[in-house]
Amino acid sequence: MEAKNVKGTRDILPNETGGFLRMESLLNTIAELFGYHEIRTPILEHSEVFSRGVGEGSDIVRKEMYTFLDKASRSVTMRPEFTAGIIRSFVQNKMYATEDLPVKLFYKGPTFRYERPQLGRYRQFSQFGVENIGSSSPYNDAEVISLAYSMLTSLGLTDVKLKINCLGDQETRDNYRNALKAYFEPHLESMCSDCKERFVLNPLRILDCKVEEDHKLALGAPKIKDYLSDASKDRFEKVKEALRINNIEFVEDDQLVRGLDYYSEVVFEFSYTSKKGVDYGALGGGGHYGNLVKELGGPDLPGVGFSFGEERLYDVLVDDGLLVSKVPNIDIFVLPLGEENKGYALSVANRLRMYGFVTDMCAEDIKLGSMIKRALKKGAVFAVIIGENEVRNNKVIVKNLKENKQEEVNTSELINYFKALYGQGGGCSCGGSCCEGCEECNDKGDKE
Ligand code: HAM
Repeated sequence: MEAKNVKGTRDILPNETGGFLRMESLLNTIAELFGYHEIRTPILEHSEVFSRGVGEGSDIVRKEMYTFLDKASRSVTMRPEFTAGIIRSFVQNKMYATEDLPVKLFYKGPTFRYERPQLGRYRQFSQFGVENIGSSSPYNDAEVISLAYSMLTSLGLTDVKLKINCLGDQETRDNYRNALKAYFEPHLESMCSDCKERFVLNPLRILDCKVEEDHKLALGAPKIKDYLSDASKDRFEKVKEALRINNIEFVEDDQLVRGLDYYSEVVFEFSYTSKKGVDYGALGGGGHYGNLVKELGGPDLPGVGFSFGEERLYDVLVDDGLLVSKVPNIDIFVLPLGEENKGYALSVANRLRMYGFVTDMCAEDIKLGSMIKRALKKGAVFAVIIGENEVRNNKVIVKNLKENKQEEVNTSELINYFKALYGQGGGCSCGGSCCEGCEECNDKGDKE
């Protein structure tokens, strides 16, 4: 049997992981610049965290969750998104009592949804996101949107489209739900079976329907902006004004309802078409949630957040040439000549590694010419050749593969030799008089 990956999953290969790490590192840095701290919550949660949090009416809970009974017959779910689990942790750890509000958290990791796989849509994908929990100020909503925007522009995506909408407060949504029911009821018979369920569970979800006839019908449905309470209107205006002051362009889209039931007030989504003309779907989205903390057993506190889909983000960055997809080069390739010299060669390679030089070693029994070819393929600039004579005389041969020159170097001088070549001038960066090894500062040279 040829083993294959599970449908809808994706291997991130070594030529991609470097790009993913660079992307995540930039997102981390910007989240920290905005005063957010990383939280790591489990992939597995009790299923009710999502059924209560994300909502029984959402497609995610109705159809897409990886839910199973554990060996003690408890229903557990592999997170389909982060927000509900983060709020569970916020409540369980009583962060509302021990920290100043709002609590600002960021996160990243795998999420799971049993969706129909297609371009940019997986069953296992990674999200990077933030939650700002515990303050009702609309300026936190604006800050979260501007954080997402800063992340995208810092990655080099200058032409992202930001759509926003306001779903209003509880009163707004109660009135709007009734209006939608009155509008859709006469058409219910001809609508898809999903929409029939949505009609009962949460008619707002009908506005998301992708079935053509239902979508057409939804375009003529009452608009939520006509049902906003004065408080919601005022709040939404403040968010929009703050975005304008911060030069963040947006369009208002009254069809944008988002697929999770916990949203209230402002919701938003970022989309982008890569320079190759590929649209991978929304790069990220989020919004304000008024009742989620309470729904999961905490005090009456709101929150706001967003998540990006990391695979989609990575793919547009590669398409646009903003991230390079390749296995990183090595600096030095150690080439032992003969089986008996391989142990010694390994000790030389390990020493170079300790000092921060990316070093590989060829342990295979192949000819020197083939070893050099391998070194070049790995992007190595130098080969360190070690044969019987070199071991006996405590020397190595350093070959510059680009210039095709070589010279003998005393093994004890090798670290300083490379430090000088890499522009570090040798010696130890702690400023002390030690040469190669500094136990005290664990000097690895300027390459770190
Ligand atoms: P979401 O819109 O369901 O929101 O997901 C956020 C992002 O995850 C999407 O915009 C997309 O980039 C990515 N994504 C979603 N599903 C898939 C998939 N099947 N394959 C690949 N990427 C996908 C949330 O998850 C909310 N928790 C966001 C949030 C945080 N709201 C408030 N706080």
